[in-house]
Amino acid sequence: MATLGFIGSGSIGTRIAQLAIAAGIDVVLSNSRGPETLAETVAELGERARAATPEEAARAGDWVVVSIPLAPYRELPVTALAGKVVLDTINYYPMRDGHIEALDSGETTTTELVQEHLAGAKLVKAFNNISDHHISALARPTDAADRSALPIADDDPKANASAVDLISRLGFDTVDVGPLTKAGALNRRPTPTRCRTPPTLTP
Ligand SMILES: NC(=O)c1ccc[n+]([C@@H]2O[C@H](COP(=O)([O-])OP(=O)(O)OC[C@H]3O[C@@H](n4cnc5c(N)ncnc54)[C@H](OP(=O)(O)O)[C@@H]3O)[C@@H](O)[C@H]2O)c1
Repeated sequence: MATLGFIGSGSIGTRIAQLAIAAGIDVVLSNSRGPETLAETVAELGERARAATPEEAARAGDWVVVSIPLAPYRELPVTALAGKVVLDTINYYPMRDGHIEALDSGETTTTELVQEHLAGAKLVKAFNNISDHHISALARPTDAADRSALPIADDDPKANASAVDLISRLGFDTVDVGPLTKAGALNRRPTPTRCRTPPTLTP
């Protein structure tokens, strides 16, 4: 039985969790305020979902989605995430996160900052340039003619293969854009990069 852990269970995290459950994957959600604050979300997601602390969600996950604002990234649990494939959806918004000189100057990318903090984890930038409602609206089975592809960036071939497999199970093809040094290019495109045919969106 596969499990997907979540650190951050807001707009993006819960939509990815819905797709995971539809794919038969158990989910463990967490946030900054404690598992009890996720009771309603867990009830809506059903019996494959439970809530825990960030450390517990990290340890439980075969992969872990990190989907929080950038500012508190140093709170991510280093030991619990060591060795894990971590899908990082984080974007940098200076008005929300405060200015970070190394990002403003283009010296580094958000994912490299997070990777530096999570030294033992294998970061894969993913789901950061698709809006929350499109995650639900555009997910498709593998044989769908109008399946969308999401760009991913990472530094580890095994983590890449594992993330590609997971994202496919969630409903999307992937396009490799290269190493984490290239991940900054993904921050400025709020829509999926490519669809085989234009999607029909529900209002
Ligand atoms: N929304 C989009 O369309 C979109 C698209 C692409 C990328 N992104 C990026 O993805 C990330 C998440 O976006 P979102 O829209 O899902 O945000 P959101 O709805 O505000 O959810 C943020 C989640 O992060 C949790 N969190 C905050 N600080 C935490 C901490 N220190 N430890 C554990 N959990 C913490 C929050 O929990 P509490 O509520 O308990 O604090 C909440 O569950 C952001 O970096 C955003 O820029 C968003």
